[in-house]
Amino acid sequence: MKNYLLSGLIMTLPLSAYANTVPEKQQEARMLAKEFLGQLKPELGKAMKTGGPIHAVDICHEKAPEIAKNLSEKSGWNVNRVSLKPRAATAKADAWETATMNEFNQLLAEGKDPKTLEKFEIVKIDGQDTYRYMKAIPTGKVCLTCHGETVPAVLEDKIKGFYPHDTAIGYKLGQLRGAFSFQQSVAK
Ligand code: HEC
Repeated sequence: MKNYLLSGLIMTLPLSAYANTVPEKQQEARMLAKEFLGQLKPELGKAMKTGGPIHAVDICHEKAPEIAKNLSEKSGWNVNRVSLKPRAATAKADAWETATMNEFNQLLAEGKDPKTLEKFEIVKIDGQDTYRYMKAIPTGKVCLTCHGETVPAVLEDKIKGFYPHDTAIGYKLGQLRGAFSFQQSVAK
């Protein structure tokens, strides 16, 4: 059942044609990831600039879930971000997400560009065919302030205040921080 749409296309179309028939749903998910990033990144940048990292924690805490919620309502997809070492309680990965991020890590280790790492698949959830999409989120320089190996104690205290079970510290530049993860029932 897995990937039946994609394998059907591959069977019947020459490869060059397939390249031009990226499924509409995958394209939709890509645009959502772009939109999420396009909304969150400027908020983070602005907050870091005007109030420093401690203030920026407030902004991430407030804006990230808000953006996810608004995009979910607008698009009809369940929009989330997950990680193998989550900070937010909502960021815990399920089995498919864990497997996908392990694949991303493997590809990163093989030298793949993190910007190209994504996965689109039709997966059965509770008997329902479901579109699932993930896109890698690499650790950039600015991210190290709050996710790196040397987070200042006051900042760590601030983070632990919101997220007592935080595990999202200790990352190095370029490592996989997490991934966008979206899903939508096919029948919807
Ligand atoms: C000012 C501190 C701060 C900075 C800088 C920062 N983050 Fe975060 N990050 C947070 C907080 C706080 C959360 C939890 C947000 C929430 O409640 O949804 C978070 C959550 C995340 C998540 C969701 C998964 C999880 O573990 O909860 C990802 C992915 C993520 N950050 C990636 C990044 C990336 C990539 C960068 C750099 C571009 C970055 N962060 C920079 C504070 C920060």
